[in-house]
Amino acid sequence: MTRDSKHTVQVRDYFDDRVADYDAFYDPPSHFARWFNRVFRKAVYLRRDLALKAARAHGCRTMLDVGCGSGQNSVYFARHGVEHVFGVDISSEMIKLARELAERAGVAEQCEFEQLDFMKMAPGAKYDAVVACGVFDYVERAEQFLAHMARFANRVIYGSFPGWTLVRTPLRKLRYTFRGCPTHFYRRRELIRLFENVGFGRIEIQPVPSGYLAWAVREA
Ligand SMILES: C[S@@+](CC[C@H](N)C(=O)[O-])C[C@H]1O[C@@H](n2cnc3c(N)ncnc32)[C@H](O)[C@@H]1O
Repeated sequence: MTRDSKHTVQVRDYFDDRVADYDAFYDPPSHFARWFNRVFRKAVYLRRDLALKAARAHGCRTMLDVGCGSGQNSVYFARHGVEHVFGVDISSEMIKLARELAERAGVAEQCEFEQLDFMKMAPGAKYDAVVACGVFDYVERAEQFLAHMARFANRVIYGSFPGWTLVRTPLRKLRYTFRGCPTHFYRRRELIRLFENVGFGRIEIQPVPSGYLAWAVREA
């Protein structure tokens, strides 16, 4: 078995240590925190909502949720009509929470979770849509990652990509560097090249305040 890269270990440790903080984005402890998240962290909801919209628009019934975190999106997708969601995450702490959440939400039959580094997931089962929300921020080799997503997809591959801004990007980069977690940012032309090189299907890119939501559709 190959050893994990320093990058992989840093990302896994970062999310293992912050699982509760991360999950609290979705389930804030107060009305104020809920309002704050809806206003200032709306990227989290936007990327989830558009993933579902793209999946529905192309009749997707099964989904692979790559970097599913604490399972909040997987459960949301299952509750909104996706028949089967398979969530994978490199952080074992995230996967533990995701299983508990699906159980509590009554969708454990529809949601399956596994702890693994997605780049090591062996090709086999296929899913109508393969989505990665908030994951490319932490991916070392974006093109290989997207190409690996395409290996599991029948109709749609979808990802959110943080963009470059003059002030926010360097601050975010600095904050994460201090916490020992690598982060990556994307320009529109890079995204087009990324999707073209992977060559899955028709490309759609939607700019959002935090960067881009991008997906490719393989025509039936
Ligand atoms: C910001 S969280 C997003 C979680 C979830 N998708 C959401 O939108 O709420 C990013 C997640 O990606 C996971 N991740 C990063 N690299 C990964 C990899 N190579 N394989 C599997 N999961 C990965 C992290 O462990 C983390 O839980």
